[in-house]
Amino acid sequence: MTTPRIESLPDGVVNLADFEAAAQSRLDEGVWAYLNGGAGDEITRQANRAAWDAIGLLPRVLRDLAGGHTRVSLLGRTLRHPILLAPIAYQRLFHDDGELATAHAAAAQEAGLILSAQASVDLRTVAEPMLADPAAGPLWFQLYWRDDHDFMRDLLQRVQAAGYQALVLTVDAPVHGARDRERRAGYQLPPHIRAVNLGGQKKPLDLQPGQSALFDGLMPRAATWREVDWLRAHSPLPLLLKGVTHPDDARDAIARGVDGLIVSNHGGRTLDTVAPTAALLPPLRAAVGPQVPLLVDGGIRRGTDVLKAIALGADAVLLGRPYVHALAAAGALGVAQALRLLRDELEIAMALSGCKTLADATPALLGPGALALSFPLVSP
Ligand code: LAC
Repeated sequence: MTTPRIESLPDGVVNLADFEAAAQSRLDEGVWAYLNGGAGDEITRQANRAAWDAIGLLPRVLRDLAGGHTRVSLLGRTLRHPILLAPIAYQRLFHDDGELATAHAAAAQEAGLILSAQASVDLRTVAEPMLADPAAGPLWFQLYWRDDHDFMRDLLQRVQAAGYQALVLTVDAPVHGARDRERRAGYQLPPHIRAVNLGGQKKPLDLQPGQSALFDGLMPRAATWREVDWLRAHSPLPLLLKGVTHPDDARDAIARGVDGLIVSNHGGRTLDTVAPTAALLPPLRAAVGPQVPLLVDGGIRRGTDVLKAIALGADAVLLGRPYVHALAAAGALGVAQALRLLRDELEIAMALSGCKTLADATPALLGPGALALSFPLVSP
């Protein structure tokens, strides 16, 4: 098995935010703008974080918490804790070991991993450390729709053969958001970093004079509900949609046989001013009912954020940018440390709020007003 190099941790890291400063000093300006930036004025990117902060906890005391744990069940499996690593493209931009380091860290910390279709390491190489470790969390594969059925069939076959256990179709980014920070920094993917699992891109459609590059060039090839049905029919793996925000879309997805949803606004990288995920989550849980697997991402930085997400109806959470900060700062060891810190914070938050298990994290744990949390009330 290919193993990542072992580095030392930067001095003074005690929480996830500490990795951010360490990462920024190691990455060039364009790559930093790509990783840390969002769309437009970055209202959503900031609101995601602010929304978790704005929810007050209402702890219970003096309960017997002996024998407590962080286990959750998800798609028929028991996970040691509810933290998965979000799909993030081109991780060799941030560290030479890229997604391989991430996979070793996830396995070591019993976390789930959702590999991006735009990974810069072979999907089989990434799967190895996860599958070799029985305590590792779930291994899922994220994809965008590619308007080429032969290509999609081949990709689904490779993903399944490599041992991935579910598919995650990202539905909120048929086109890049208006990424001001990226454009200001003049960011471009360097030629030596590639989406190695995807092969070449399809040639853009020819446009007639007066046609829109977006509506006539890109949108005819973007996924619709028809492609969700196609994926459902062409892979036996469970299918989750990432980026559903409207309760009606959530109901439609479940009615079509989708197995779960990831409540996400793409870390504020696509459509700016979409509501923060903490505010989107309760109506989506209400729409799909108690049984449908529901995960959430966006602004999760603290164990208390994880606990609040579960209390608002999530089964599990995805960690995004912070683990890439840790990857840039210290490779596999950094990512493992970031996960360990978050797990420890979650256990502390549970113990201090009277939760023996995550089933105890219910809306009753949240202070007055938390469920009425709405976007305009959140200041960036
Ligand atoms: C992004 C794409 C790769 O957010 O999902 O940059």
